[in-house]
Parts: sequence; structure tokens; C-alpha cells
Amino acid sequence: MSVVFKTKTGVTTALDKVSFDIAPGSFLSVVGPSGCGKTTLLKILSGVLQPSGGRVLFDGEPLARTKVQGQVGYVFQRALLLPWRSALDNVMLTLEVARRGMSRSEREAEARHWLKVAGLAGFEHRFPHELSGGMQQRVSICRALAFRPRILLMDEPFAALDEITRETLQEELLRIWAQTETTVVFITHSIPEAVLLSEQIVVMSARPGRVLERINVPFARPRTEKIREMPDFAALASRIRGLLRPRDPASAPVPAMAEV
Ligand SMILES: Nc1ncnc2c1ncn2[C@@H]1O[C@H](COP(=O)(O)OP(=O)(O)OP(=O)(O)O)[C@@H](O)[C@H]1O
Ligand SMILES: [Mg+2]
Repeated sequence: MSVVFKTKTGVTTALDKVSFDIAPGSFLSVVGPSGCGKTTLLKILSGVLQPSGGRVLFDGEPLARTKVQGQVGYVFQRALLLPWRSALDNVMLTLEVARRGMSRSEREAEARHWLKVAGLAGFEHRFPHELSGGMQQRVSICRALAFRPRILLMDEPFAALDEITRETLQEELLRIWAQTETTVVFITHSIPEAVLLSEQIVVMSARPGRVLERINVPFARPRTEKIREMPDFAALASRIRGLLRPRDPASAPVPAMAEV
């Protein structure tokens, strides 16, 4: 599958013959340099963007927006909350759309639960402009998790958070993932974060984005922060770092490497 953007200033190949499958219920991370097409990939998976070439299959059929709607939770790189709705109402909104069977009080209880998990108890009635950037991002994570989507697409969701909050939400995410059949596609710039969370990691090259390698992460679950101290953890992180480090163009041009 490829994505080419045509603009007034020229043509950009964002994704070049990217091909991989995502097993239902798996946790897959994508790492790669800025601009390599990670957000573009999530847009394709959510159905808002069509590939320029190739195809994307969902349950064995071409992925159509209508089919994935209501089944996909999307945590954007920026929070994108509705400014006129409180934190609680922002989280309840997806429940209104995706969980029509729920009563208002059930929706409110569910939304309050997630805000509490994300450390936002007491901030339910604040409007987005009254929250910090990290708090807004936590609301947006709650919004996606609350309706328990079949597929959760997360675009660097924890990048703007402080370390302790990030660790709490990483643990929560793993807990939710273990308890549900949600398939997670997680984008991150943090190699340790990808290794800690994922079953598989897709490593992408600089633009045009290609799959350099797909790596299995063999560590047992449940995983805790402790695994960061294991030698195997460091070895795997270092291998991924090696793949991402720009090569000397004279000795190993990136395109040649990507074709291996
Ligand atoms: N709508 C668009 N029109 C034109 N070019 C675009 C569009 N969206 C993305 N691009 C280009 O496609 C490439 C990939 O962009 P994308 O946002 O997917 O990168 P990314 O890997 O998510 O980067 P980052 O890590 O910085 O978020 C970039 O060169 C970008 O300029
Ligand atoms: Mg991006």
C-alpha cells in the first residue's frame, strides 16, 4: 500500500509499498523518524484516507470508512477536544455515538471512571482551555478508551505527559488490552516504550516510509516497569536504535537498506 500526496509545491511519497498484517487482539507499535508517514498510516487504518496504490483489508474485505466507524478509537497526536464541552462531556460524547444502548447515568459513570484512572478526578467539569496540554491529552485518551473500541489507534499518545503519568497510563493501557480483545496500533518515538508495551514493532525508514523490519517482542506478560532492567530489554532497544540511526549515505544508502 502506498500513499502519495500531491500539493502545489510538489509530490510527496509518504508511504512506499508498506505491507504488514495486524493480528486481531495484538499490540503492535510503529516507530520511525519524524515525517516517515506514521500518522498517515493511522489515517489509512481509520478509513479517513484512502491509499494511492495497493489496498488495505479489514476482516478480509477492503477497509471502508463505514465499516470501521464505531469500531475504531483514535487518540490523535494533539488532543482535539471539543472546546465547548467539559472534560466529562468530551469523554461521554463517543459513548453517546458508539454505545447507544447505554443510559445517561451509565455513560457518566463510565466517563468518570476513565477520568479518575487518568488522574483527572475533580477536573470533570473543566473546559479544555482550563486544562494543561497534558491534561487535555489524557481526556482524549479517556475518550478513546471509554467506548472500548475493537481497534485502538494511538498516535504518540503519551509524548506530552510527565513520566509518572505516562507510566500509569502505560500500565492502564496494558491492563485494558489484556482484559479486552482490543487490537492496538501504537505510534511512539520512544523505543523503550515500544519494547515495553508491544508484541510486535514495525520499524520504518525515513521518508518515503517503508517497513525496515518487523520485530517480535518476546517478553512474558504481565509486564511491569521492571523489565526495563533486563539485559534482553536493553539489547532489543539497542537493535531498534541501530536500525533507526541514519547511515552514512556513502556506505549504506537508506533505500538500499529498506529493500533488504
Ligand atoms: N495532507 C497532506 N498533504 C501533503 N503532504 C502531507 C499530508 N499529510 C502528510 N504529508 C506529508 O507526508 C509525510 C508523512 O507525514 P506524517 O504526518 O504521516 O509523518 P509522521 O511519521 O507522523 O511524522 P511525526 O513523527 O513528525 O508525527 C510528511 O512528509 C508530510 O509532510
Ligand atoms: Mg505523526
